[in-house]
Amino acid sequence: MATKTLNVGMIGYGFMGRAHSNAYKQVGQFFPGDYRVVLKAICARDEAKAKAFAEQWGYESFETDWRKLIARPDIDAIDICTPNNVHKEIAIAAAKAGKMVLCEKPLAMDTADGREMTEAVEKAGVANMVWYNYRRIPAVTLAKRLIDEGRLGRVFHYRAKFLQDWTIKADLPQGGQGLWRLDVAAAGSGVSGDLLAHCIDTAVWLNGAMASVCCMTETFVKERLHTLTGKVEAVGIDDACIFMGKFANGSLANFESTRYARGHKAQYTFEINGEDMSISWDLHDLHRLSVYDYKDESKLRGWRSIHVTDNSPDHPYMANWWVPGLAIGYDSSFTHQVADFLTGLETGKPQGPTFRDALETQQILDCILASAKSRQWVDVPKA
Ligand SMILES: NC(=O)c1ccc[n+]([C@@H]2O[C@H](COP(=O)([O-])OP(=O)(O)OC[C@H]3O[C@@H](n4cnc5c(N)ncnc54)[C@H](O)[C@@H]3O)[C@@H](O)[C@H]2O)c1
Repeated sequence: MATKTLNVGMIGYGFMGRAHSNAYKQVGQFFPGDYRVVLKAICARDEAKAKAFAEQWGYESFETDWRKLIARPDIDAIDICTPNNVHKEIAIAAAKAGKMVLCEKPLAMDTADGREMTEAVEKAGVANMVWYNYRRIPAVTLAKRLIDEGRLGRVFHYRAKFLQDWTIKADLPQGGQGLWRLDVAAAGSGVSGDLLAHCIDTAVWLNGAMASVCCMTETFVKERLHTLTGKVEAVGIDDACIFMGKFANGSLANFESTRYARGHKAQYTFEINGEDMSISWDLHDLHRLSVYDYKDESKLRGWRSIHVTDNSPDHPYMANWWVPGLAIGYDSSFTHQVADFLTGLETGKPQGPTFRDALETQQILDCILASAKSRQWVDVPKA
């Protein structure tokens, strides 16, 4: 039985606003604990839309100015679901007001901003988290457990891809609602910060720190009409980003992301090759973890596909859902993230990724873009 409440004030009601709201509504049903999440207020600049969202999703109230939301004494936690260029100002103001801060990824536009944000939440001593939700897909969490148990042995390779195809049309505009990801002033970067950020967060979580990187980026469409200025403007984001690198544990990194892979909508995959075991995962088949165990007896040795849906504690998060064999989806990764955040509040042990964890990813992002610019290898500073 929940004895405490967590009053959430969320800013932004787009894609992530919906994903987070859904998670807040589900968490108490599937992961009951000490805290009951209350959808206290939604904040968005358009009053009619904010009101409609509040009614549809069950928020008690709405605001049209995030500063007013932060000033409200009945709000415990601020959830930032806005484009990347407004994360910093909101996060720092929220921390200064003593609110917990949950921030969408990438943490910031660059490392300098990310560091300021991290220092602000740490100085204020407020609970904080960044929504790198892919860690919480049961098959990915199982991968982490296998690695932590030492089953892979020495790791040689980590390769990851995140492929999409939605910006191929040269007449697609940039900027404004729905298209801010193409506008460098709002997004900070292109596929690196938007997609590879996820791959890097998972990789550092699974395989440890990255030591050095060498990167190539491409902007295939050089100019696009800007919806806010009405002018054709240069495109400042990376449309595609490919990098190799070395992890601190000596393994080799091979990462690729693009929005020009015709036919792919959101294909996030990773594969890790160790001396004793390889594992691989594909977002399009998110419940399965593929495992090749060299320690199996030779006549049975081969890739096996584990459907991570057992409701024993061996399959992370699944005991709280349905019966063995039944799938959950992308949305549940957010529910798991809220559940883990609440566990962090209950135990006093943050479950991560914290702002500090996300700062490490931000640093790697800066290094890959610096490498692409200089056409040189770049050492990643120690976190
Ligand atoms: N974790 C993930 O898998 C994931 C997936 C998608 C997006 N994201 C991240 O979530 C954030 C939001 O992305 P999205 O896809 O939800 O975008 P979106 O365009 O769907 O929604 C953005 C929302 O922010 C609002 N907004 C913009 N500026 C604002 C301001 N100054 N004050 C108040 N509201 C403002 C917009 O009106 C809109 O409601 C981005 O940082 C993005 O990188 C993360």
